[in-house]
Amino acid sequence: MKTVVLGSGGWGTALALVLLDNGHGVTLWSRTPAKAEEMARTRENPLLKGVPLPESLAVTGDLGCLEGAELVVCASPSFAVRETGKRIAPYLRPGMVLVTVSKGIERDTNLRMSQVLREATGDVCRVVALSGPSHAEEVGLRLPTACVAACPDRDGARLVQDAFMSDCFRVYTSADIVGVELAAALKNVIALSCGICAGLGFQDNTKALLMTRAMAEITRLGEHLGGARQTFGGLAGMGDLIVTCTSLHSRNNRAGILIGQGRPVREAMEEV
Ligand SMILES: NC(=O)c1ccc[n+]([C@@H]2O[C@H](COP(=O)([O-])OP(=O)(O)OC[C@H]3O[C@@H](n4cnc5c(N)ncnc54)[C@H](O)[C@@H]3O)[C@@H](O)[C@H]2O)c1
Repeated sequence: MKTVVLGSGGWGTALALVLLDNGHGVTLWSRTPAKAEEMARTRENPLLKGVPLPESLAVTGDLGCLEGAELVVCASPSFAVRETGKRIAPYLRPGMVLVTVSKGIERDTNLRMSQVLREATGDVCRVVALSGPSHAEEVGLRLPTACVAACPDRDGARLVQDAFMSDCFRVYTSADIVGVELAAALKNVIALSCGICAGLGFQDNTKALLMTRAMAEITRLGEHLGGARQTFGGLAGMGDLIVTCTSLHSRNNRAGILIGQGRPVREAMEEV
């Protein structure tokens, strides 16, 4: 299958490698052409250090790579998803499947990432959310990981499942895109709080208290906003909360630690 991954951050690069390992044709698009050239030359991405990029991975700064693509993965940071959606809109065709892997809620509109993408692209193709406990650094090393492909249209979710499923990357399907996306966004707030706890010198009891009560709160809010209760207890909910709150791969967690230690918020954000 011809696939394109938009966004050459750590996560876009790791997912491009999953698709490549599965035998798909993959182009990794970077919005900075000079960065694309550098990655094509060095066969490495500084945002995913120590993971070689095979020659068979095409890297480009040209959106013309979207011509004829069947599966397009949008891995932009959440604040840039609308901008990316607008840029790719002229290239999209009804048969393509668009996968959103960004975790967040859009500032000002409060829209989920799949809603932002649909709005920005004129709603021409199916949008599937892929989410779960998955640090790019570990996926790049092919360590066992599992995610959820969510779409109200189960065929769309299955297509994404088939494209990504491998011996070390397991994909479950769900029809609950609302719950999956809300869980992904809301746990970031808790990861920040968990980091603050650690930065203040609190230990495991406090973290467990925070994570457990947060899970209850995320579930109540998520259900109220239309998500299914069971989603929040699964990989996209509980799984992602655990991985984000307990790992130093998580920038939210690391920023929280600095804030808890007394660093100004802006400075902590810049450092991570
Ligand atoms: N890193 C992970 O392990 C991971 C896992 C799951 C989901 N995600 C989600 O994937 C998304 C991307 O995360 P990441 O870790 O790859 O980010 P990253 O920080 O590694 O990279 C961000 C990339 O976005 C680019 N960028 C910056 N501003 C941009 C703009 N205005 N328009 C388009 N691109 C821009 C940067 O050049 C960089 O290549 C986030 O929403 C994140 O929540 C990340």
